[in-house]
Amino acid sequence: MSSLPYELSSRVQAIAGIDPELRPATKPQFGHFQSNVALRLAKSQGQPPRVVAQRIVDELDVADLCEPLEIAGPGFINFRLRSDVLARAITDQLAEPGVGVQTTDHPQIVVIDYSAPNVAKQMHVGHLRTTIIGDCFNRVLTAVGHQVIPQNHIGDWGTQFGMLVEEVLEEGVDASTLALVEAEALYKRGSLRFREDPAFAERARRRVVALQSGDEQTRSIWRQLIDISLAGFNATYDRLNVKLTDDHLAGESTYNDDLASVAAELETDGTGVIDQGALVVFVEGFNAPMIVRKSDGGYGYSITDLAAVRHRVRDLHANRIIYVTDARQSDHFAQVFAVCRLAGWLPDDVIAQHVGYGMVLGPDGKPYKTREGKAMLLADLLDLAEEQVAPPIALAAIKYADLSNGLNKDYVFDVDRMVQTTGNTGPYLQYAHARLAQVLRRAEAEGLVVEEKIAVLDEPAEQTLALLLTRFGEVVADVADTLQPHRLCGYLYELAGALSVFYEQCPVLKSDGEVRASRLALCTLTKKVLASGLDMLGIEPLERM
Ligand code: ARG
Repeated sequence: MSSLPYELSSRVQAIAGIDPELRPATKPQFGHFQSNVALRLAKSQGQPPRVVAQRIVDELDVADLCEPLEIAGPGFINFRLRSDVLARAITDQLAEPGVGVQTTDHPQIVVIDYSAPNVAKQMHVGHLRTTIIGDCFNRVLTAVGHQVIPQNHIGDWGTQFGMLVEEVLEEGVDASTLALVEAEALYKRGSLRFREDPAFAERARRRVVALQSGDEQTRSIWRQLIDISLAGFNATYDRLNVKLTDDHLAGESTYNDDLASVAAELETDGTGVIDQGALVVFVEGFNAPMIVRKSDGGYGYSITDLAAVRHRVRDLHANRIIYVTDARQSDHFAQVFAVCRLAGWLPDDVIAQHVGYGMVLGPDGKPYKTREGKAMLLADLLDLAEEQVAPPIALAAIKYADLSNGLNKDYVFDVDRMVQTTGNTGPYLQYAHARLAQVLRRAEAEGLVVEEKIAVLDEPAEQTLALLLTRFGEVVADVADTLQPHRLCGYLYELAGALSVFYEQCPVLKSDGEVRASRLALCTLTKKVLASGLDMLGIEPLERM
């Protein structure tokens, strides 16, 4: 079934000839929706707007959906849905497993590249954002019926591993026993030594060659460093309650064997050219060409991303690829996509998009740093929030703060504000859910059977809530499309607001008969919609708080 506003809108469009742009009415006395379609048509039809409005109203047959239509002010058309129609719509919605979320008619294979921490380093505040945002996209796109393939492009390759392995050997440590923090400390000692001791630097460079040529001892220490890092990452993913597992690992090293053929393809088909000994690709609109292979034969930074795109389209059959990284990388990805289009690895019908996110700012409004001037660790931010509230609430606070603004904006990590159960916060929405759970528990304790039918829906507060509930599916579809989770946050916040007005104006347990049964069913549907929406944000809907 298509949503009520959608049905109504298509009927008006059939008469008016243009999109009526139905908007939620600004005041209850204007009904449920308003359209300014007559005002927009008046000029071209050479008639006063009210006359145009009257003609549309006369021709329109919506008596099965609406109360008699009204024309207001300069020529607005006001629509008020019949309460029995609205009641039936939400009764149907309650019976649907997705409570209004429709699965798409065009399911796609969607690759999402997110999280991507670096081996032998702890995850920092930037990884917090990509992990939370990517997890939300995963949940939303899965909910609307796409097949999501998460790809965790961990940093597990590169010259720094020569230095790391050499440091492990020279210190004589057993890398398999290190915790991630210890590995990071080792990394720091190694980099220092690399900078200060030319002989060590030389041994580290030879170690890179050993790693690349598959030397057994070198590879095995490299592997150990990856394994202990993964243990650390997975502990963080558990703590964050995100859906990433080892199945989604596809680190930089997985593309190592593909790089030569990527370069060769570019060279033979003429997409790339040799410029001062380097293989480069010129793309229109970019200041500098992409350096695919340096003149010394080493590969540039971007080639791994080229190989990843080729693999994702050719082998994973992606229809859409989404990258969730720092906003500052948007030029890099734009160039990667452009080169892949030129090379034919990214056909026109495959969507590639980079979703950049802004920085997490500290209380002083500057990028969040430790006292030593390093980026804050992800774990430290979680600790900060968990000092104030229990873990599921702390997580809700952090995730909601991250997702409820435009993603590309910076946001201030204000723990005190984001853990509040009032205001536009994650815990407030969890609280709205828990309160519904409590009403329904009480109903059960009083022996009331919660009916699955909404028969009476006469109060304006009930109607406002019901009307909002019917919009859930279109909000989710919109987020799947636009990748703007703040719209879902805004919707859920509005829903929680309508719910508190409903509580104020419409007693539930203290009413009787059909009214009480309908209100309990309305509570059940609101609880399900909140639970589903929160789940898509990666937030746990709590039964008690
Ligand atoms: N490992 C990088 C970092 O921690 C992010 C990689 C992003 N993904 C990609 N396909 N390049 O900053």
